[in-house]
Amino acid sequence: MLNERQSALWNALGLGPQYVQRNELRKCIEEAKCNVVKPIVQEAVKPSIPMAPKATKEFVYPRTSQVSSSSFAPIPPTPVKPTSVSSSLTAPNVKNLDWDALKLAVESCHACPLCNTRNNTVFSDGRAPAELLLIGEAPGQEEDLQGVPFVGRSGKLLTRILESLEFKRGENLTIINTIKCRPPQNRNPKETESLACRGYLERQIELIDPKLIVLLGRPASESLFGAPQKISALRGRVHQLEVAGKIRHIIVSYHPSYLLRSPEEKRKAWIDWCLVADTFDELKAK
Ligand code: URA
Repeated sequence: MLNERQSALWNALGLGPQYVQRNELRKCIEEAKCNVVKPIVQEAVKPSIPMAPKATKEFVYPRTSQVSSSSFAPIPPTPVKPTSVSSSLTAPNVKNLDWDALKLAVESCHACPLCNTRNNTVFSDGRAPAELLLIGEAPGQEEDLQGVPFVGRSGKLLTRILESLEFKRGENLTIINTIKCRPPQNRNPKETESLACRGYLERQIELIDPKLIVLLGRPASESLFGAPQKISALRGRVHQLEVAGKIRHIIVSYHPSYLLRSPEEKRKAWIDWCLVADTFDELKAK
């Protein structure tokens, strides 16, 4: 049986009747044979870009009280392919700016050509510091018009997910994107554009100083793990990476717009978001 929170999340994702899926659920809980609170893999990773991870530890999900800690199964280390480009050529120096000054710096940024086509920069929903941080890819059309992340169709799905877990946008979490200006026609951000924004992203993470970071989709994951990374290889576990000067807990999941295009992946997103809620509770209790 699902508990109240798992059930609310199930409904928020529009996964349908729960009784039909019970065997499926049991299967997926059995598949991911692991439990909880101890790091099971530790891996040294050579950092070659400012935000590439230095070390990663991982936990696997789902956790069930029925599974004992003796059933830990080692997961292969996260492969990280570091890029060889230095961000210092393009990123403005924002290391000492506070939150408001950083926002102003973003608003007047001309570090890449996206400044010519944007209506608004999109800095954040929420402030620093915050206990939970969500990182998306880049603003879409609605976000560009309103200057706020995740207010379009995928934003509505994300808001439903968050509300089902009793996270309140603008209250106990902050949402940002890896890049702050809309790429024309919502194309994928170019590497140069991501690099131009990297200083802002890193300073935002430093100031927000979250207990837990959720990376939504591939560009967000690549911005912290190094490129290229498949979501399927990173999701379903808690990583510990050194980002913006600290070891941080990170969970990777599918981007909500991908879930709208591929509803069959929502079941996996349900597992990831259950993991987010449980991990957040644990981290807060520490
Ligand atoms: N997709 C994103 O990644 N970010 C937004 O702000 C909106 C859509």
